[in-house]
Amino acid sequence: MKFFIDTANLKEIQEAQDLGVLDGVTTNPSLMAKEGISGKNNVLKHYKAICDIVEGDVSAEVIATDFEGMIREGEELAELDEKIVVKIPMIKDGVKALKYFSEKGIKTNCTLIFSAGQALLAAKAGASYVSPFIGRLDDISFDGIQLIEQIRTIYDNYGFDTEILAASVRNPIHIIRCAEIGADVMTGPLSAMLALLNHPLTDSGLAKFLADHAKTNA
Ligand code: E4P
Repeated sequence: MKFFIDTANLKEIQEAQDLGVLDGVTTNPSLMAKEGISGKNNVLKHYKAICDIVEGDVSAEVIATDFEGMIREGEELAELDEKIVVKIPMIKDGVKALKYFSEKGIKTNCTLIFSAGQALLAAKAGASYVSPFIGRLDDISFDGIQLIEQIRTIYDNYGFDTEILAASVRNPIHIIRCAEIGADVMTGPLSAMLALLNHPLTDSGLAKFLADHAKTNA
C-alpha cells in the first residue's frame, strides 16, 4: 500500500520524505489555506515546492466547478510538474473533466467520494485515483472502512485500473484496516503515520536491551 501525506506543510512533507516511506502528497484548498498560501502565483509556487521534495504523485485540487474552468485550471496545474495529479470534485462537470483528462493522459484524483456509486462513476470516467473520505464518514456514524471494502469489490469485479486512495485517514487503525482490505493508497496526517511506530513492548524491550548492554560494557 502506498503512503501519501495529506498536508501542504513543507516541513511535515520533508519529515515524511526523510522517513523513507513516502509515496506522494495530497492537498486540498483547506490545507493550502491552513498554510496561509493564497493568490494564484503563490499557490502554483507552493505546489512546485512540494513536487521538489517528494518523488511520487502530488494531488493539486481545482477550484472551478464548471467543466471549462476545471480543464483550464487542471491543464495549468499539470504543466507545473509531471508529478502533479489534478484533483477533481465528484460533481457532474467533474466526471466530464475526469474523462477529458484521462483521454489526454493527465492523471486525476476524484475527491469527495462518499458512496460506492460515486466511485463507480469516477472509475468509468477514467480517474487515476478515487478518494473515499473514511474519517468524515466515521464522523457522521457511517462506516468509512465498509465503503473501502465495497469499492474494492466493485473494482476487482470489473478490473478497473483506478486506484483506491483511502482519504481522511485519522489514525493508525484506519491505515491497518485499509491495508487489510487492499486499498491501494492511504493519505493521512504525519501523526497517523508516525503512530504506526508505537508499541509499549518495543519501548520496554529496547530499554532492557540498552540497560543490559550498559551493565556489561560499563
Ligand atoms: C483527501 O485528499 C483530503 O485532502 C483529506 O484526506 C481530507 O481529510 P479530512 O477529513 O481530515 O479533512
